[in-house]
This record gives sequence, structure tokens and C-alpha cells, in this order.
Amino acid sequence: MVSKSVQGIRAWLEAPVAEAKVAGRTRLDALRGAAARVTTPLLPDDYLHLVNPLWSARELRGRIVDVRKETADAVTLVIKPGWGFDFKFTPGQYIGIGVLIDGRWHWRSYSLTSPPDWTDPDNRAKRVISIAVKAMPEGFLSSHLVNGVPEGTVVRLAAPQGGFVLPEPTPAKVLFLTAGSGVTPVMGMLRTMDRRANMSDVVHIHSARTAEDVMFRDELAELNEKYAGFTSHVNLTGDRGKFALSTLDELYPDWRERQTWACGPLEMLNDIENHWTAAGLAENLHIERFEVERSAVGEGGTVTFARTGRSARVDGATTLMQAGEDAGVRMPFGCRMGICQTCVVAITDGHARDLRNGMEHQAGEKIQTCISAAAGDCTLDV
Ligand SMILES: Cc1cc2nc3c(=O)[nH]c(=O)nc-3n(C[C@H](O)[C@H](O)[C@H](O)COP(=O)(O)OP(=O)(O)OC[C@H]3O[C@@H](n4cnc5c(N)ncnc54)[C@H](O)[C@@H]3O)c2cc1C
Ligand code: FES
Repeated sequence: MVSKSVQGIRAWLEAPVAEAKVAGRTRLDALRGAAARVTTPLLPDDYLHLVNPLWSARELRGRIVDVRKETADAVTLVIKPGWGFDFKFTPGQYIGIGVLIDGRWHWRSYSLTSPPDWTDPDNRAKRVISIAVKAMPEGFLSSHLVNGVPEGTVVRLAAPQGGFVLPEPTPAKVLFLTAGSGVTPVMGMLRTMDRRANMSDVVHIHSARTAEDVMFRDELAELNEKYAGFTSHVNLTGDRGKFALSTLDELYPDWRERQTWACGPLEMLNDIENHWTAAGLAENLHIERFEVERSAVGEGGTVTFARTGRSARVDGATTLMQAGEDAGVRMPFGCRMGICQTCVVAITDGHARDLRNGMEHQAGEKIQTCISAAAGDCTLDV
């Protein structure tokens, strides 16, 4: 009985903040949990925030400590996460990042380009992470991050996740196929392999329009010099056009034996998927998509978020997740691209439409809010 209540108090003290992993919790985490509870019913975050903006009992936060130009339209952001961040992520995973602009939080996913448990090169005691963002034409958040986010900005973070990862142990033969910003998760994998000095037989074919557009160009060239087992093949599409998959037989005749990771524009990934499937090698191929292929629109309507009592009038192209966030509702989310299922909620009234295939969902069904729009008025259980 006594030991049960001791365990109960301990669990109460150590209960994780939202997003934080339970494993590997520190004394500081327990203290934070306690602080959150002894200040109830006042809001502990208000006090913690006054002491340090990265301290939160409710959510993961981070501070942008360095902004480095990669190319004319891409930057690396080095972020120092606050309490509760899991630095033992798997190379290739992505995080969610929330940025406050004009009073509203805007969330997007970005692949981690740093290896797990990475420390600041100038301060070994400080663990940091990095992402690299390429500005999309007319892209709202990517343009802001590339062209205007100042060092020192405090951001919200969602924990690392995703299945596009480097397995342990690393396969004997590896092929990476990337283009544009699709190089980012692979950079996280390559840096991890470099840190482990484990680059036994890796071919990386990367496409960009010009040499100046190649993200991490110098680092890829250095790795190419450093390891006999690493080949960095850069294809400049401005000069040579798209990389022809049919040339793999000639250039890398053992490509069929290689576990392959591919990330880049949708068209390239569809071609790769078809090529591998036609060769009967679909199980060797791992793909990460940064965007979702939309082939439908909804009708729009008034969306009611039942648990909060809020509602919003939206068009048929706006996702229900975006509609909720715009209305100040805390929507559950992960990849924001229809992959992870974190955003699934039930419709309790009306209809929604899946923007990928046009399929209609009705009351009683569950939907992924990140790729669904209103098909008339509807109510969500959130
Ligand atoms: C798992 C995952 C990991 C990602 N990792 C990275 C990363 O490491 N680096 C990075 O730069 N981006 C990455 N992205 C893409 C990123 O999340 C954003 O989608 C991207 O930065 C565009 O956001 P935005 O706010 O600028 O564009 P928005 O304002 O949301 O969109 C503007 C327009 O661009 C289109 N669009 C949106 N995203 C893309 C895209 N990726 N390609 C082509 N058109 C698009 C939209 O359909 C829209 O028409 C990742 C996405 C996912 C799902
Ligand atoms: S957020 Fe991942 S499926 Fe919707």
C-alpha cells in the first residue's frame, strides 16, 4: 500500500509534459513536473516562462541559436531545444516546428539534419538540433524561415517521428536518391554514418538545378574525399536534365542489391517507385514525401469543433487541421501530410472530403484532418 502511494507520488511528479518521452527522464524533468503541479491552479507556464522562455510544463520549445545560409534560397537553423526534447531520435526522422507570426502559430514538418545527441561544436555541454529549410515559391512559412527569422526566436516543437530512418545496423550497400530539399533527411543519415565512421558502401545521387543550388555542397564533397566507400554523385539538371533511372545499370550496376532511400519532388518519387516496382524490388525502397498529391477539393462549409465550441467558415481547399488552427483550436498533428495518423478525429455531424482521392466521409467515421476538407457543414469531435 505504502509503496503504491510512493509510486503514485513519483508518477505524479514525473508525469511527462506534452510531447516529451517518458524514458530517460531527468531530475530536472521531475522538478518541472512538480513545479507545474504546486503552482496549480495558477498557470505554471507563466512563471516558468518568466525565468526562461524555453521552460514549459506543457509543451516542447526551442530557441533558434544560429541561422546559416546554405544556398540563395535555403538555410540551416540550429535550434536549442528546451526541457523534454528526446535527443535520441533515429537519423532520418522529422520534427514539427511552430512559429508565431502576427499572433498565430504556424506549424510545418522539417527533417532533422543533425545526428542524434549532437552537441554545439563551440560548446560541448550544449545539445542542439538542426533542420534545413528551402524556401518554396509562395510558401508562407518556408519563406519566413529562410528570409526573415532572427536568431533568438523561440519556437514550439513537436517530438521527432517518422519511419524514413537509417536502420541499425546499417545495410551493407546503400543508395540514396535525392533532389532539392529532399537531401535533408539523408544529410542526417550521412552525418550519423560519418560520426560512426561507418560509410562502407554508400552511393548518393543528388539532383539540383545548378551547382549553387546544391545544399551541403562542400560537405558532400568532403565526405566523398574522406571515404573510399562513399560516392557523391551530383546531377545538375540545368545542364544535364533529370537523372535518368535507366542509367543506373551502367553507372551503378549493383543498384538492385542496395537498400534505397529516396526523397524529393513527387514526380521523381513516383518515377522511382515505378522503376523499383517494375524490377520487383519494391521492398528495397524507402520513400519520404514532403508534400501530398491532391486530386480533389471539398465543398467548404462551417466547421464546428465540438469540444471547444469554436467554429469557422472555410473553403473546400483548406484542410480541417488548418481551419482548426486558424480558429485557435489545439488540433492533434504529426506529419501534416497524411502519413502518420496522429491527426485522426471523428466526425460527429455532416461530411468531409479526402483531398487525395475525393472520398467522402460521414458522421460516425474517423478522418485525417491534415488531408481532409469540409464537404458542407460538419462537426468534429475535437
Ligand atoms: C515529413 C516531412 C519532412 C519535411 N522536411 C523538410 C525539410 O527538411 N526541408 C524543407 O525545406 N521542407 C521540408 N518539408 C516540407 C515543409 O514541411 C513545408 O511543406 C514546406 O516548407 C512548405 O511550407 P510553406 O509554409 O512555405 O508552404 P505553404 O504556404 O504551406 O504552401 C505554399 C504552396 O506550395 C505548395 N507546397 C507546399 N509544400 C511543398 C513542397 N514541399 N513542394 C512543393 N510544393 C509545396 C503548396 O501546395 C502550396 O501551394 C517536409 C515535409 C514533410 C511532410
Ligand atoms: S498529421 Fe500525419 S496523417 Fe495527419
